[in-house]
Amino acid sequence: MTATLITGIGQLVTCDGSGPDGLGLRDDQAVIASDGVINWIGPAAAAPAADTMIDCAGRTVIPGFVDSHTHLVFAGDRSAEFTARMAGKPYDGGGIGTTVAATRSADDDQLRSLIAGRVAAARAQGTTTLEIKSGYGLTVEEEVRALRLAGEFTTETTFLGGHVVPAELAADRAGYVDLVCGPMLTAAAPYARWIDVFCEPNSPHAFTAEESRMILTAGAAAGLELRVHGNQLGPGPGVRLAVELGAASVDHCTHLTDADVDALAGAADTTVATLLPGVEFATRSPYPDGARLAAAGVSIALASDCNPGTCHSSSMPFMIALAVRELGLTPAQALLAATVGGARALRRTDIGAIAIGRRADLAVIDTPSYLHLAYSPGMALTMALDPDSRERQ
Ligand code: NIG
Ligand code: FE
Repeated sequence: MTATLITGIGQLVTCDGSGPDGLGLRDDQAVIASDGVINWIGPAAAAPAADTMIDCAGRTVIPGFVDSHTHLVFAGDRSAEFTARMAGKPYDGGGIGTTVAATRSADDDQLRSLIAGRVAAARAQGTTTLEIKSGYGLTVEEEVRALRLAGEFTTETTFLGGHVVPAELAADRAGYVDLVCGPMLTAAAPYARWIDVFCEPNSPHAFTAEESRMILTAGAAAGLELRVHGNQLGPGPGVRLAVELGAASVDHCTHLTDADVDALAGAADTTVATLLPGVEFATRSPYPDGARLAAAGVSIALASDCNPGTCHSSSMPFMIALAVRELGLTPAQALLAATVGGARALRRTDIGAIAIGRRADLAVIDTPSYLHLAYSPGMALTMALDPDSRERQ
């Protein structure tokens, strides 16, 4: 067993729920991790000896970000689509087909190296846990391949065969839903923890409430846990379906009725509302009202949704800055949503906070306080730090 002493911490932000804002701020503290798990937190002056030492030189230490929603398995480039949107073209999910074609034509080594680069970029911004979805394969073989490759980087793999109806089956939606619920699910389930669906009647490419229900119910029967893309492009059934089926998270939550907010508040112990403000940034859509959700008592997570279409960024500090500037969350609420909120969205109690028994997945911010995550957007401030972590994700 190797013990690492992490000392020289300026501000320790535990996100352990204590204190007036739940941030659990502590001064003059040190942390000891053994084999990647925190086993001592206390006054730096009283720290016991350890095998190795990391000196943070007065920097701020926070839990590593838990990015509970990404689509990192893809090839190709859609920067032209982004540019067209900035000139006023709306997003309707149609560009997903472009990425499906590019991803299918990439070989395993190309895809693996693209994912590795994206995981490294996320870590450089302080992310220590990533969920990764399939959804740009949309055949049995391609979805399994995407999940197998995602599984090389994370245990939080999500089967998203229900992303859109692929072009070759556009005339046979029912046939595609049967494929997703049948042979594709059977083949994908061993490689996935989660199943997700793009429940969006406002997009001609995505799935209706009934189609989404079939996909999620089949996934649950195959032993997968549920997540939902819902209420992204307009008001819709996604949130209420997610709550009804006990999904761990419903993601986007951009267009919510009062009934949706009530449903989420009533289900706060089960279903997290995951906000993805990078999507509104990159699609020129109205931002979700985070303050309204927080005031209603909804359990909130913040994630990147990093994908080639609606948000080509995995920067959690950027998402925090947007959450504070555009969603109305306080800096404390935004940081909690990006750490312990993401952990809750993944039903994980071993990450997301700095506490005894949790994994020593930390991020160091080269600033005097966590406030700089929102105050200093676009600055290179963070890096992941997970001493002795045997399993990265
Ligand atoms: O979460 N909304 C559905 N899926 C992705 C976008 C995928 C794409 O456009 O490639 C999202 O925004
Ligand atoms: Fe997404």
